[in-house]
Amino acid sequence: MKVYQLTYRSKAIPDLPLKEIQKIIEVAKDFNSTNEISGCLIFDNGYFVQILEGDEEKVTKLYSKIKIDRRHTQMEVLSKGWSSKRVFNDWGMGYLEMKELKIGKKEDLVQNAMNELTNISVKNDFTLKVFWYNVHALLTETKFYKTL
Ligand SMILES: Cc1cc2nc3c(=O)[nH]c(=O)nc-3n(C[C@H](O)[C@H](O)[C@H](O)COP(=O)(O)O)c2cc1C
Repeated sequence: MKVYQLTYRSKAIPDLPLKEIQKIIEVAKDFNSTNEISGCLIFDNGYFVQILEGDEEKVTKLYSKIKIDRRHTQMEVLSKGWSSKRVFNDWGMGYLEMKELKIGKKEDLVQNAMNELTNISVKNDFTLKVFWYNVHALLTETKFYKTL
């Protein structure tokens, strides 16, 4: 079955409290699971990167809702399109905070990808796909994740 995937990046408002991110994850877990949307949210150095995957209409609607959220600005779609399967099948909304990770090589790998994402405005789909698979592997291997 085909799944629609959308990845965007945005800038968190300055000094966004951790409590607010926790609230976002809570709401996302609830809403996304009800709507069969899976994905992952990364927070790093003041930037969010999020992938949403599911039904095209539902994902697009959720994107529009997230877009007007005042907790972030400069929302920019990095990639959208169809895939043959979900990357985050097992997470309603995975969450990864880079600075919590202290596990060596994979940390570097994802950190490098994050740096690239922050520096370059549009990535090609293949790079992004590899990026999300790495993130998924990281979430699977570490205890620093929030599950649904
Ligand atoms: C970076 C970011 C990511 C978000 N991701 C989601 C999400 O995946 N699912 C969700 O329901 N809300 C998400 N939200 C929260 C929505 O913007 C919105 O606050 C929430 O859906 C509640 O909307 P409502 O009050 O209109 O029901 C996110 C917000 C931000 C800032």
